[in-house]
Amino acid sequence: MSKFTVQDFLNKKKNGSKITMLTAYDYPFAQIVDAAGIDSILVGDSLGMVVQGHENTLPVTMDEMIYHTKMVTRAVKNAMVIGDMPFMSYQTGIYDAVRNAGRFLKEAGAAAVKLEGGAESAEQIKAMSKSDIPVMAHIGLTPQSIHRTGGYKVQGKSDEAAKRLIEEARIVENAGAFALLMEAIPMELARTITEELTIPTIGIGAGPYCNGQILVLHDVIGLFERFLPKFAKQYTNLKTEALNAIITYREEIEKGVFPSEDESFK
Ligand code: KIV
Repeated sequence: MSKFTVQDFLNKKKNGSKITMLTAYDYPFAQIVDAAGIDSILVGDSLGMVVQGHENTLPVTMDEMIYHTKMVTRAVKNAMVIGDMPFMSYQTGIYDAVRNAGRFLKEAGAAAVKLEGGAESAEQIKAMSKSDIPVMAHIGLTPQSIHRTGGYKVQGKSDEAAKRLIEEARIVENAGAFALLMEAIPMELARTITEELTIPTIGIGAGPYCNGQILVLHDVIGLFERFLPKFAKQYTNLKTEALNAIITYREEIEKGVFPSEDESFK
């Protein structure tokens, strides 16, 4: 099987099959996500919260994103790896945007990047695309804007806000984005945008009518317990499984059960 590409994103939209995406941030989990047949892995700046333990995604740096993306690309055989542009790696201008996006491809082996924002990121999207860096845009709830928006809230609920999001979607498509991620917006609005655009849409909290879906890995496998967004689904609880295994290990040492002769040299 060959690697999933930008062209495969577009082909899946054309033939009506769903695009599957999930985040991953390190070698062992990227191997598992890839082995499960997921089309594309986003090395999301959500790692600031689910891996680094920060309150939000703002502290994540470009160097940290490169570090994590390298681990993921080393593990992956088939999935397309997308690096997430962290806060202040592209907002400061076109030069920074192209340079930092280029690092994901040149140093970390990613095949594309994602950035947040609609109209305000259009010039950056244009410049990156012209430099042969495929860009996924991200509109709706954009976690890097929490200090402006006041929190993690559903977007596009009023008619005016919905119209604005449809306009933003058109703008990023025209700027050259190869796909559009939509976070926490009403499902009928996501359906309208999906039908209006030529490029594929990927939803997270945007309902079932998007061309593909993404979730944060640690929500899916029960490794992030601070909160589970309404739109996320936990398929297993690895935290409980790991905790029970480690408690048993501690108890076996204390009781003299581990190591047994089986784990010892003669
Ligand atoms: O950083 C991230 O993981 C994301 C997802 C919410 C899609 O942007």
